[in-house]
Amino acid sequence: MKILVFTEKPFAQAAVKAIADVINASGNEMELVERGTRADLLNAVKEADGLIVRSDIIDAEVMNAAPNLKVIVRAGAGYDNIDLQAATNHSICVMNTPGQNSNAVAELVFGMIVMMCRNQYNGTSGSELKGKSLGIYAFGQVGRNVARIAKGFGMKIQALDVFVPDEVMEAEGVTPVHDVHELFANNNFVSLHIPATPQTKNSIGYDLVSSMPKNGVLINTARKEVIDEPGLIKALEERPDLRYVSDIKPAADKEFEEKFGVRVFFTPKKMGAQTAEANFNAGVAAAEQVIAFLNNGWNKFQVNK
Ligand code: 3PG
Repeated sequence: MKILVFTEKPFAQAAVKAIADVINASGNEMELVERGTRADLLNAVKEADGLIVRSDIIDAEVMNAAPNLKVIVRAGAGYDNIDLQAATNHSICVMNTPGQNSNAVAELVFGMIVMMCRNQYNGTSGSELKGKSLGIYAFGQVGRNVARIAKGFGMKIQALDVFVPDEVMEAEGVTPVHDVHELFANNNFVSLHIPATPQTKNSIGYDLVSSMPKNGVLINTARKEVIDEPGLIKALEERPDLRYVSDIKPAADKEFEEKFGVRVFFTPKKMGAQTAEANFNAGVAAAEQVIAFLNNGWNKFQVNK
């Protein structure tokens, strides 16, 4: 069977080789399309039985063009780029690869925090992380890695996650909070790890951000869609001590940069999972999951049930 690996943002070379090895060893055929356009995707998917993607948009049009497609694996955590209802309508199984790139994202959180605390290394006097408090919004795989690293910096840690029992957080030295307003009001830094869903979209705005303590920093390595950008801009205008750093440009990036200069920073492309290790882990897991599904219906990480 044919497995299409389509990534607008390519994996590291070693990861591509490892993915190819897994697919070839299973007796299936791999087609690789990197930096492809939408037209390339619609064309390449025609004969695919399995599809591996990253944040590439996979909607009904793609599925309509793929009569043989049985399984899509998102090599990564967030699957807001895949139309799950359309996949279900086409009897296609959609899976993600939870945990495979979470350390990479968590390490970037601290790269970004230190950069903001040192005023983007512009030579002026900054501040340290030791003894400061960090609020982690969603205590999944990335949130837990963030907590692990924060302990090394000597930070106090709180987390909010309605799906995680208090004891799980407490066992990791994290204080649970149960109200998002409390999370923002209590912590010098708030790191977002919530998925982009109808409930979370535009949910982080003026009220929450302006309740942060003096010199607060909001770190977003989740999705730009969870931010209410006009609300965040208003908060940053009123409070010149607040800062925002995001692993992906907001829609109003120019306005943010013109108004707030060194108080904001955005990566041009999402960089959280862009390490050799994360590419390898997520890519190989995706290949193994596609094959396990095609061979015997294995669907442990199915997200469109
Ligand atoms: C994820 O959801 O796994 C991360 O946001 C990484 O996305 P990427 O594969 O597009 O870099």
